[in-house]
Amino acid sequence: MAQKDDIIMNGDGVAKLGFPMWPQFNETMYADVEQTLRSGKVSYWTGKRGMEFEEKWAKWCGAGYAISCTNGTAALHIAIASLNIGPGDEVIVPSYSFIASSFSIVQAGAIPVFCDTTEDHVIDPTKIEALITPRTKGIVVVHLYGIMCDMDPIMAIAKKHGLKVVEDCAQCFGGIYKGKKSGTIGDVGCFSFCQSKHFTTGGEGGMVVTSDEDTAWECRSFRDHGYDVKTRMNMLALEQKLPYIHNRVGFNYRMTEMQSVIGLHELERFDNWNMARRKQYAAMYDEAFKGLDGIERLPLNTPDRQCAYWWYPINLDPKRCKLKASEFIDKLAAAKIPCSGILWPEAYLENAYSNHVGFGTAKFPFESKEYTNAASVDYKNNSCPVAASLRDVTVSLFLHPSWEPEHIQRCIDVFKQIMSENLK
Ligand SMILES: Cc1ncc(COP(=O)(O)O)c(C=O)c1O
Repeated sequence: MAQKDDIIMNGDGVAKLGFPMWPQFNETMYADVEQTLRSGKVSYWTGKRGMEFEEKWAKWCGAGYAISCTNGTAALHIAIASLNIGPGDEVIVPSYSFIASSFSIVQAGAIPVFCDTTEDHVIDPTKIEALITPRTKGIVVVHLYGIMCDMDPIMAIAKKHGLKVVEDCAQCFGGIYKGKKSGTIGDVGCFSFCQSKHFTTGGEGGMVVTSDEDTAWECRSFRDHGYDVKTRMNMLALEQKLPYIHNRVGFNYRMTEMQSVIGLHELERFDNWNMARRKQYAAMYDEAFKGLDGIERLPLNTPDRQCAYWWYPINLDPKRCKLKASEFIDKLAAAKIPCSGILWPEAYLENAYSNHVGFGTAKFPFESKEYTNAASVDYKNNSCPVAASLRDVTVSLFLHPSWEPEHIQRCIDVFKQIMSENLK
């Protein structure tokens, strides 16, 4: 029988089950990466491909500026720190997300305050305001699985309370909210090019987008040792010696040229191949599962909130389906169908939060009293009941662009068979 890890993992995990591997790279890329390596211009500051990738990504998103970086967690860290959020501040974030959505807040020295989601897997705007305290400085929203958050009410709350909004688009390349692409609605958008994502820049990678010029310069500086990047870039244009001027504390989160080259080739085929196939396969799932007895909900996709289909989460109907999600997944796995349950509905249950395992013996920021509200870090008493309830009913299928329609059909046939055998 297939191992659970094989089912959850992409790469050769799905290949072992007889499905084409994801990721598979654009064949046009290999020679370009080789040439880049042979050129010796392999870092952001020696080559030109990093800046080219940033320009093309910004244009594709419809954002003013893009700042490449090492991974999605770094992108979030850059975004939060560059919006001047830090020690003493609180940021509201859904508990139901990959841990990096909230850890990046802690990395910036601030405190995450966890918000529940709706049954559509994304933050519930009606539950945000109750979490605002005098320390609240921002909201991180997560377009989980590619499902667009309901941004209008979130932006209205942010405006009313003077909060910054960061969109975590790690799982959402090209989702559209009322005509705007994911990442361009809040103050800053953050993407991950990790192995499992819509596409990868060779295993790791990240990108920040913003349309505010000052924020973009701040992000570039924070990504790069706190350099005065503006001066540095002008010096580069003038071919003068690069100065080392450190305007602020920063990190080294720069992407390599090889990663940027891979990203450029993946971006080139994104709309016409990658996203086109995801949408084609989502339509097959929609048609097969809409109205099917035992299913309560399919991924939200409306003209105003267009899904980017990273994964395809299905909410089982516990009134009709006898199986819990974990039991359903075991049966799919036994039939060699790649699938996954919910990975992380309640971040506050993690030891790092419940036992305040922050930085150093001071357990910063959780137990540094001048920076923390005791009530805000009382994670042991946190509760996000809707997110928690989704654990027992959510089964995700995949729609990797390397698959063919017959692979999607196999997932549909087995899913339907299991459901028909397990109705109440
Ligand atoms: C929702 C979400 N946010 C952030 C991240 C972090 O991205 P990375 O793994 O590139 O650091 C991920 C990815 O794993 C993610 O799924």
